[in-house]
Amino acid sequence: MVQGKNVGVVIPAAGSGTRFGGGVAKQFLELNGESLLSRTVKQFQIHPAVDSIAIACSNEGLELTASIVRNIQATKVVWIGLGGLYRQDSVRNALQHLATDIVLVHDAARPFVSGEIIDRVLNGVIEFGAAIPVVPPKDTLKISTGDMLVKSTPPRETLWLAQTPQGFMSDILKRAFHYALQNHFIGTDDASLVEQIGVPVKLVEGDVRNFKITTPEDLLLASLLAK
Ligand code: CTP
Ligand code: MG
Repeated sequence: MVQGKNVGVVIPAAGSGTRFGGGVAKQFLELNGESLLSRTVKQFQIHPAVDSIAIACSNEGLELTASIVRNIQATKVVWIGLGGLYRQDSVRNALQHLATDIVLVHDAARPFVSGEIIDRVLNGVIEFGAAIPVVPPKDTLKISTGDMLVKSTPPRETLWLAQTPQGFMSDILKRAFHYALQNHFIGTDDASLVEQIGVPVKLVEGDVRNFKITTPEDLLLASLLAK
């Protein structure tokens, strides 16, 4: 609960980690003996504002996810069930099982989310209705043409890398998911769906440590950070 509003968390954990490769989906890989999923769920279990958590996983991941939740005694978990083909499908499925005023959506593959980031997102949601954590890009970004020539160089001051947890008043997020389904819109994050219905999304300060484990190099870096 924050400012009289209860808070639910959707954790999409149904991906297969194609960019990571290997036989085990990356959310189940371990850092110092603890899986990424376990570390991620714990961060929300221990956050005082969080009331409930819904986790979407694949058919093959169901049992392992349930045993991880049991092991860490994550009492806030109210639903573990099937995700879908796209991340968006997984989030939509889990969202249906939360009845909170505010919803945060957080990638299972970002185990370094902190209480401070969660607080900043929640404060943004309270004030603006929708808020996402971002970090500035370090490199110059280029926009390309179809044949890999530079089309233009956008001013870096206006560009941000989007992280999770992305937070929304629940009615806004549910409206956005409904609209996306009706209009066959698929986005790579949750804010992009909310943008489609014309609701402004506040940018709050993320953290470079809150990166997503996407490739094996990321896990290497994560194992250094976890020490
Ligand atoms: N995810 C999900 N359902 C999907 C796809 C992704 O729940 N159909 C989850 C992943 O498990 C992950 C988060 O969404 O926690 C972010 O997605 P991403 O990093 O892209 O993970 P994967 O889709 O598993 O990896 P890849 O894109 O390399 O296949
Ligand atoms: Mg993916």
